[in-house]
Amino acid sequence: MDTESVEKQGDETGFETMRLREGRAEIIVPKLDYYRVSPNEYVPSKAPVFYNPLMKENRDFTVMVANVIKKESGRSLCFGDSMAGVGVRSIRVLTEAGWDEAYVNDNSQRAFSIIVMNIKLNRLEDRMHASKMDANIFHVTHSLRGSRFDMLDIDPFGTPIRFLDTCFQAVKHGGVLSVTATDTANLFGVHKRAARMLYGVNVFKTGFMREIGVRVLLKALADAAARNERGIEPIVSITRRHYVKVFVRVLKGRKHAFKSVSQIRFLKVRRFEKIYVPLGVVEVEEGCEKDSLLLGPLYSGQTYSREWLEEMLLQKAEKTFVDRDVFRTLETLVSDDQKIVGGIDLTGLASSLHVNPPGRNLIIERLVKEGFAACRSGFDNNCIRTNASLDELTRIIRSL
Ligand SMILES: C[S@@+](CC[C@H](N)C(=O)[O-])C[C@H]1O[C@@H](n2cnc3c(N)ncnc32)[C@H](O)[C@@H]1O
Repeated sequence: MDTESVEKQGDETGFETMRLREGRAEIIVPKLDYYRVSPNEYVPSKAPVFYNPLMKENRDFTVMVANVIKKESGRSLCFGDSMAGVGVRSIRVLTEAGWDEAYVNDNSQRAFSIIVMNIKLNRLEDRMHASKMDANIFHVTHSLRGSRFDMLDIDPFGTPIRFLDTCFQAVKHGGVLSVTATDTANLFGVHKRAARMLYGVNVFKTGFMREIGVRVLLKALADAAARNERGIEPIVSITRRHYVKVFVRVLKGRKHAFKSVSQIRFLKVRRFEKIYVPLGVVEVEEGCEKDSLLLGPLYSGQTYSREWLEEMLLQKAEKTFVDRDVFRTLETLVSDDQKIVGGIDLTGLASSLHVNPPGRNLIIERLVKEGFAACRSGFDNNCIRTNASLDELTRIIRSL
């Protein structure tokens, strides 16, 4: 991000602003000093209009997915941005991914004013249309055939749950919905009661809680899609810092709806000292033995599409404004085959066994050498996926 700024003294907005560049977008944002709490830390919710420079990476993912769609579609493409803040995501989709039109909405008057200024600044008056309304109304306004989006992005404060039903109506058959959730304590099972109330799941904190968070959010999307006679196909699911972000293709019809809700099942786990050991995906009626527990319901299918990830990674060789770190995240995801749901937290296991934590690559190498399946988890840094039993894994760790 180029933060070279031209500061304005609140002449049009009523608060001090500055200009900066993110990717190809030139944007007016509230002066970052309003909400900078340390050199690299911001509390954007304290600003008159939301802009978080650290979430450039989140917008980078959107631009990459938009680029893949653009390459494959060969027709005019329309982006929807329900909670747009200063409108930077849409400007980047138009200018970096070459999309044709964007409808940009926020329910805040101040955000709306800045969006209008940013549209002019980037000379996008003909292609970018601003509105100020509640996101649910924005979605319903775009729910008729002909006015739906090729991609819709929702990026609320906290949980997206109360916007999910309407947003499925605003995406074309085959289009993409991208949803950010920042209520990670709920999704990761730290706040168990809130997880139960908002997402209808019984989850608790495990060593592979980021994966659980992704699967809880995808479960909520599959449920909402099915209520609207749609199915989902996950393209890419990411969890970094304080957020979970998923991109799913939306497919219209009962057949697709049923296919995606059929992936909603439970994960059986057993407690061993400081960790939970995953024991496989089960239907609720299969129940569990006395010494095991059920987590869920969760989306138990693949959380990404390998073809899409590979297409996104091709952009590394092109001229791009996407951070290198974002490509590294995608490479880690691709290396995770997700054949097993849940993972073993190596740090927790080593601590339970009173040994030093083994290197993740070393343990994977040893497991594979002995004929077990093993790979890193693309979500949780300390975790591996393996079909080796806990006894086998313990034996190998002790032998290192
Ligand atoms: C996390 S910020 C969005 C940031 C933006 N998408 C970006 O990439 O910079 C959330 C935004 O949602 C807006 N918002 C909150 N509740 C809303 C609602 N019910 N309808 C529409 N916008 C809403 C807020 O004003 C705020 O600008």
